[in-house]
Amino acid sequence: MSVTLSSNIAVVPSGGACGAELKGIDASRPLTPEAKGAIKQALFAHGVICLRNQTITDEQLVAFGRTFSDLHAYPVTEYEKPKGLPPEVELISNILVDGKPIGALGSGEATWHSDMSMFDIPASFTYLYAEKVPPVGGNTRFANLYAAYDALSDELKQKIEGRKSIHDIAYIADGRLRPPYKHVTDKSKGPGAQHPVVRTHPESGRKALYLGRKGYGYIFGYPVPESDVLLDALWDHMVSPQFVWEHEWRVGDILIWDNRGVAHARGTLDPTLPRLMRRIVGMGERPV
Ligand SMILES: [Fe+2]
Repeated sequence: MSVTLSSNIAVVPSGGACGAELKGIDASRPLTPEAKGAIKQALFAHGVICLRNQTITDEQLVAFGRTFSDLHAYPVTEYEKPKGLPPEVELISNILVDGKPIGALGSGEATWHSDMSMFDIPASFTYLYAEKVPPVGGNTRFANLYAAYDALSDELKQKIEGRKSIHDIAYIADGRLRPPYKHVTDKSKGPGAQHPVVRTHPESGRKALYLGRKGYGYIFGYPVPESDVLLDALWDHMVSPQFVWEHEWRVGDILIWDNRGVAHARGTLDPTLPRLMRRIVGMGERPV
């Protein structure tokens, strides 16, 4: 059911575990305070929002993101960034030109993760603008981390209360090593940021599970095998169907998600079907 937030902005919840469409926003133009407020309100309520039928330049996309926070700009190591691209804009693509990737992630699976969680200051919002979308494949799944935390058993809540975990930096979301890191042999000493397993959203005040990247974490205070068992139980719970919603992309979508409230993953792509997304990432805060 659509809910009208103002004279021309309305939010249409997906009906699933998270996600909503926000109507009446043109992201290429400067936002009114009312539109900015509506976007934040919808993001805190639904975790992920979609703005359909957008046409936007890289510079406008950067200006849109800067309305909400500073943006991450970090050196790309997986592919050669095209000349002229602003430092804040990253390409996510499976397209090869002369045999070389023009963007990150390729056609493989991107396992569950939270953007930039391997840094001390991870992402707040991620913005993904769909320029080329294949007719099948490449949907993005989202898990509602608030609902997953709320529904944890008392036993699991107790086991993670006050604990921190390592958010590994050695591996990319598709499982490959990120240069210059080497394979991690002891997860308890692996490289990456250390964040609370349960974090409190700085604006909504809600508690959420915050686990980083599936398969590479470590929870302090436990031997590695016990941490692995605990993390497996938490991940199984977190990405079980009642907490997950899937976005089907259309060209012109700008999808915005709040990494403090949702984790995300992408299935495999047919390498012969081109997909091209332009991404910017908002600078968050140290998780507490
Ligand atoms: Fe991601």
